[in-house]
Amino acid sequence: MTGWLMNRSLLILAALLLSAGMSACSPLGKPPADNLYQRLGGEQGIEALVYDLLVEIAADERIVERFRDVNIPRFRQGLESYICSISGGPCEYSGESMQVVHAGHGYTDVEFNALVDDLIRAMEKRQLPVATQNRLLALLAPSYRDIVYQ
Ligand code: HEM
Repeated sequence: MTGWLMNRSLLILAALLLSAGMSACSPLGKPPADNLYQRLGGEQGIEALVYDLLVEIAADERIVERFRDVNIPRFRQGLESYICSISGGPCEYSGESMQVVHAGHGYTDVEFNALVDDLIRAMEKRQLPVATQNRLLALLAPSYRDIVYQ
């Protein structure tokens, strides 16, 4: 790892450790017990998953540079509420659409796959069953067209 990349990873890790990890979840009623949100471990499970994902990204030389100027606590919270909301949890994702957020950066399919790899690693670390992993990946897969080569 080059010195610069190392610094970048350390910065992201520091921001992670300092940020509160509060998700934008608000109790809008209890989701059914067997939905994906519950299978991911609810609010706490998703917070832990996003934390592990960011740790993976911080160590991933293929994409870490893309997060050089990103406000990590905000990104963390955005990801938490996005995953919570698409998995059927009681959260509203209030950020911009995936297309707007990622437009103008020319993210490649190699970078997209790298992030998916990192997510799988994080889900493995959380010991989520493969069926649960696949359900989340299936929900995220369609975002490919909004994120890559925009
Ligand atoms: C499954 C694929 C992906 C999903 C579901 C996803 C989701 C998200 C979400 C929810 C946010 C936060 C938006 C907000 O709250 O404002 C975000 C921001 C961001 N994403 Fe992605 N993303 C994906 C792929 C990628 C890839 C492949 C890259 C680049 C390697 C990337 C780079 C970024 C960056 C740099 C930001 C921060 C933007 C900013 O705050 O300025 N994303 N993404």
